[in-house]
Amino acid sequence: MSGASAVERPWREPGSSSGAAKSLWREPERGGDEPDWPAVTFHDVFKIFRSGPVETVALRGLELRVQSGELVAVLGPSGCGKSTMLALLAALDEPSAGEVRAGSRSLQRLDDAELAAYRAREVALVFQSDNLWPALSARENIAVGLRLAGHGDASDAAQDALATFGLADRGAHRAGALSGGEQQRVAIAAAFARKAPLVLADEPTGELDAVNEQKVLEALGRLREEHGSTVLVVTHSGKVARAADRVVEMRDGVVLT
Ligand SMILES: Nc1ncnc2c1ncn2[C@@H]1O[C@H](COP(=O)(O)OP(=O)(O)OP(=O)(O)O)[C@@H](O)[C@H]1O
Ligand SMILES: [Mg+2]
Repeated sequence: MSGASAVERPWREPGSSSGAAKSLWREPERGGDEPDWPAVTFHDVFKIFRSGPVETVALRGLELRVQSGELVAVLGPSGCGKSTMLALLAALDEPSAGEVRAGSRSLQRLDDAELAAYRAREVALVFQSDNLWPALSARENIAVGLRLAGHGDASDAAQDALATFGLADRGAHRAGALSGGEQQRVAIAAAFARKAPLVLADEPTGELDAVNEQKVLEALGRLREEHGSTVLVVTHSGKVARAADRVVEMRDGVVLT
């Protein structure tokens, strides 16, 4: 396979038996003439969960490309694979077959140290709730992530990020004592402080009222505007979808085209 170009890569053929998917997968060759990769690429991605005799095919040949700096809303019914997709992109889980790329890097090709660095430095996650260590202050929550990412002046940077999102006076508060909307903004402030290139939000406004939803939405927009972050936000909210650059609809483990 030496000299294989991007287009000649040995993708597994769609439609082949998903049960044998892993064994059929071969890593693409690293070509000398890499094309300009999008910020995010899913190519023919399958994810099969096995629990005893029960198989759940959460992703079945997912294709998605997201350009750098795009804010993409991901919509779809419960169980269609949205959270599974984010988990693969966050390198919290591995695909059963296919390829997940962050920029030019195929996540399956990274070793453990590279994956740890990727998670600490490049990806920020914002969930519907439980984003923070409740016993730590808002500032410490952000500072911990900054230290893991190798930043030196973590405490000052954490406070600056809180101020950016109108939370300067909440820095010393225990995170568990903040309102739901404030907690979500602290989680986004943490992504902001780290200048995370990739921000993955899974129903970040699901538990918020309209006012707080708007604030969280504006905060996500700032990540993109000020740091050029690429943002994927899973949502059931029409308001969030309307604020996105692009809406991607998922059904049964694939993106609708
Ligand atoms: N760890 C797991 N083990 C077994 N099955 C799983 C696991 N995680 C997800 N699934 C299954 O995979 C499918 C996709 O789940 P996923 O959580 O990605 O859906 P979703 O689109 O995020 O749904 P929701 O909108 O309800 O959050 C579902 O059928 C789910 O039950
Ligand atoms: Mg989900």
